[in-house]
Amino acid sequence: MPVPAPNLYPSFNVVRLSHVCYTVRDLEASRAFYADTLGLQVTHEDSEMITLRAMEERGHHCLVLRRGETPAVDYLAFKLYGDADLEKAEAFFRAKGLPVEWVERPFQSRTLRTRDIHGVPIEFYVRMDRLPPIHQHYALYKGVKPLRIDHFNVFSTNVDESAAFYSEFGFRVTEYTEDEETGRLWAAWMHRKGGVHDMAFTNGRGPRLHHIAFWVPTPLNIIDLLDLMATTGYVGNIERGPGRHGISNAFFLYVRDPDMHRVEIYCSDYQTVDPDHEPIRWDLKDPQRQTLWGAAAPRSWFEEGSLFADTPVGESVLKATPIVAP
Ligand SMILES: [Fe+2]
Repeated sequence: MPVPAPNLYPSFNVVRLSHVCYTVRDLEASRAFYADTLGLQVTHEDSEMITLRAMEERGHHCLVLRRGETPAVDYLAFKLYGDADLEKAEAFFRAKGLPVEWVERPFQSRTLRTRDIHGVPIEFYVRMDRLPPIHQHYALYKGVKPLRIDHFNVFSTNVDESAAFYSEFGFRVTEYTEDEETGRLWAAWMHRKGGVHDMAFTNGRGPRLHHIAFWVPTPLNIIDLLDLMATTGYVGNIERGPGRHGISNAFFLYVRDPDMHRVEIYCSDYQTVDPDHEPIRWDLKDPQRQTLWGAAAPRSWFEEGSLFADTPVGESVLKATPIVAP
């Protein structure tokens, strides 16, 4: 199936991905991981919830951690341009027969909660509390020096359908992986903000969250994080990398948080803002697709993901097999 053509006049306007909310079993352990190890800044903290932002972010949070019994991803959130877009988004999801409700979220304006066609819980808002800039407060930088949240990656049972759906509200494909035999999409990378992606879909049991990613200044920050994690009790949380992706050309590392939610540390992809930017096609069997240097990803990377709260999981339509490390 061909990738959707760029939709330059979408049903409603998304600025970018914004934040993720996790249920975590141990707030202190999650704080130690995200604040003390990765280096995110705590912007609110109470006995039930911690919010954090990265160094360049002016919005109140890119990560919300809520205490709970069972680890889960509560929702993925996106920022919209204006109030009219919120109204249009409500009408769009309602017309699709998808569940729509208005919810209250701390530190942000009224928020629309819905689900995508495969059940991923997603939320849209326009305004979040703004905080003073800290990107030049270098004394605050620590860990991997995370600058901003960069993208979500979700397991989809039908990547063709996911790509077509998100295209309706303006997500544009930058790179994609095709299964040669069936011509179906195995994965797709889609953006709103002018990088390689805000949202990616990977074929697999779903919907489940594959990972979120934080942008860091340089690959050396990733080496520093590896040294830090390897000597502070986190060596078992290092899953894949460091390396350079074929797709996106970004330098990467994948680590797991205390609840096994996967986090990518990511830097140096490229600009994609042109409306006629041509997507790049990759063959699923290309060994340089995952890692430009040829190293295959481990089995866990293809099989393990985080469950969305109250969201049933199904098998993928496409059964093609990627290259897996021995
Ligand atoms: Fe990623």
